[in-house]
Amino acid sequence: MSNNPKTVVNSWNEWDPLKHVIVGRADGCCIPPSEPASDPKIPIDSDMRGVHGPRSVETVAKANLQLDAFAKLLENRGIKVDRPTPITFNQEIRTPDWQHGSMFGCMPPRDVILTVGNEMLEATMSYRSRWFEYLCYRPLIKTYFDQDPGMRHESAPKPRLTGSSYKDNYLSDSISIEERLEMVAKKNFVTTEEEPLFDAADVLRFGKDLVVQHGFTTNLKGINWLNRHFPDHRVHSVNFPGDPYPIHIDATFTPLRSGLLINNPERALPEEQKKIFAKNGWEILDAARPAHNKPPPLCYSSVWLSMNVLVIDPKTVCVEASEVNQLEQLDKLGFNVLPIPFRDAYPFGGGLHCSTTDVYRE
Ligand code: GLY
Repeated sequence: MSNNPKTVVNSWNEWDPLKHVIVGRADGCCIPPSEPASDPKIPIDSDMRGVHGPRSVETVAKANLQLDAFAKLLENRGIKVDRPTPITFNQEIRTPDWQHGSMFGCMPPRDVILTVGNEMLEATMSYRSRWFEYLCYRPLIKTYFDQDPGMRHESAPKPRLTGSSYKDNYLSDSISIEERLEMVAKKNFVTTEEEPLFDAADVLRFGKDLVVQHGFTTNLKGINWLNRHFPDHRVHSVNFPGDPYPIHIDATFTPLRSGLLINNPERALPEEQKKIFAKNGWEILDAARPAHNKPPPLCYSSVWLSMNVLVIDPKTVCVEASEVNQLEQLDKLGFNVLPIPFRDAYPFGGGLHCSTTDVYRE
């Protein structure tokens, strides 16, 4: 233990001044073969259907240029930036229950690591291809643990992810989009309640309140597990019936500063669930429309990565540079808006919020 102990890990919400962050890498990223959790996520007309294998060297290089430039910009603003250590994603993985053809990558740390106060929690994850992704963050977490005597390193129970964790017959080609929207409105998602499942990117932090999306990647048992794990927090389950592919909350619901949120207008929070925000003086605005009508090639995410912004202090927000409508909306709301070219990185796991995870906010 250091002679000069100091706090390294401390972050309670999505907007206080950011001082230390992890930014992902595109190196070695693969499109994994299909699996029970991923099939329902890929629309029938997506260019990702039937495709798997390592991403091309050219696309990895282009994504890394943007990730590196983003990291540099944050560093130039005095924010310490750490990067994960990629493992060989293009290899078969197995547990006693299943084997899978490859892993995914380590571009979106937000999906895997949830920082709550002085704790970094490795999520269960809900895709087999992402079962070992936490390993990319272990070198950093080990350093934080060694440097910071108050830091808590936690890992949620690794799920079995057998066939019992997924519903049969939830494939895109056997369900129309209308049927799917009905299923989602009834909270009928691809994952079962066999075991706790959550991805860290389904959780938003509001100080002592955690807002968690119930959807494809997080089940009720996962939310229950979070509730028991954080007994000093209030854990709120939310869902967004307009989203046919409810995976990760951060292209749907985005806190910008204390008291102000933007919500994807196609995925409105149900009125009943809005009450708690209204009661506490929070304003929920419709997010601006995306500037693009389709995502870049071979991208898992929707055009709504436009609202996947990274707030670096209550007055300053990073927005993807081509998202002119989102830039304008935030500018009009009085933010200092930093345009960040990032579309080449989108296919590797999302936008500016996805590609980061907090270590320290003031
Ligand atoms: N759930 C991420 C998106 O809208 O693409």
